[in-house]
Amino acid sequence: MKSEKAVEVINLEKKFGKFTAVNRISFAVNKGEIFGFLGPNGAGKSTTIRMLCGILSPTSGDGHVGGNNIIKEQEAIKQNIGYMSQKFSLYDDLTVEENINFYSGIYRISDQKKAERKEWVIKMAGLEDLRSSRTAILAGGWKQRLALGCAIIHEPKIVFLDEPTSGVDPISRRDFWILIKEMAKNGVTVFVTTHYMDEAENCNRIALIYKGNIIALGSPHELKTEIMREEVLEIIIDTPEDWIERLMKLEVVKEIALFGNALHAVVENAELSIPLIKDFLTNEKASNYKIEKIEPSLEDVFVSLIESYDKNEEKIK
Ligand SMILES: Nc1ncnc2c1ncn2[C@@H]1O[C@H](COP(=O)(O)OP(=O)(O)OP(=O)(O)O)[C@@H](O)[C@H]1O
Ligand SMILES: [Mg+2]
Repeated sequence: MKSEKAVEVINLEKKFGKFTAVNRISFAVNKGEIFGFLGPNGAGKSTTIRMLCGILSPTSGDGHVGGNNIIKEQEAIKQNIGYMSQKFSLYDDLTVEENINFYSGIYRISDQKKAERKEWVIKMAGLEDLRSSRTAILAGGWKQRLALGCAIIHEPKIVFLDEPTSGVDPISRRDFWILIKEMAKNGVTVFVTTHYMDEAENCNRIALIYKGNIIALGSPHELKTEIMREEVLEIIIDTPEDWIERLMKLEVVKEIALFGNALHAVVENAELSIPLIKDFLTNEKASNYKIEKIEPSLEDVFVSLIESYDKNEEKIK
């Protein structure tokens, strides 16, 4: 298997003892794509990334990253990709410059390019005034940009970012995504994991991974319009939290959750459910409510897919 794709895996599996962390997943990432990998804690995101980066050998399955085989060519992969781990692998005791020098060495940047690349990282990270400071004193957003700079100092064509924005303030998150989009515009493939739904919207395509399985894959628009079988109603009502339990008792309401100041209810069929819910609310003497069908948010889609996966799993047991 030789691949034209930036990333391609077939039946990729990782077991730790008897526990299956990644369960024979198959997918491909196009060159220049921003590919989001989403899933709750322990879903298998980091384990998958580590296999793709040549750090961890799969139990079975096969795959290529940038044309290199993930089992036989792990060293070539490590040299050719950028990897930013969940813990931002920076040395706190080193200064900003020393960290950059360290990664220049690992990636064997040529002597004539070293200085130029270092300045590029420092400028990209906005660390001009802090180049001689110990990394330990940097705030989260700066550390994050320095970690990204170090991960891409060798100008890789494929970059893996494992929760690059966790624990970083909203402004830094937004700036970080501007950088990511710029990289993609220049042809770099970005594979990124995140827990933030607003960030997922920036991805060209998203895979949702749960208990080691990919349970949905598509563009944000496809996921919202095609993949979710149920429909979502927005209910605007006074003291919405007081209504959650009562509305859940209605047979047509599959799920209900507070969403800002409103409720989002998942139903099989919006047209049939709206009159039933209206009758119920009128009977219960609710005043001033509004109810309408809305396009589901990505969060609605994911919650719904995960719930139905769990229900199916229970049935099989
Ligand atoms: N070296 C290991 N030995 C045993 N179990 C492991 C090992 N690494 C990961 N696991 C387990 O595999 C599962 C998947 O872990 P992984 O780190 O890939 O999840 P994740 O999706 O990245 O989660 P998070 O969002 O918390 O980072 C978890 O149950 C984890 O405990
Ligand atoms: Mg992880």
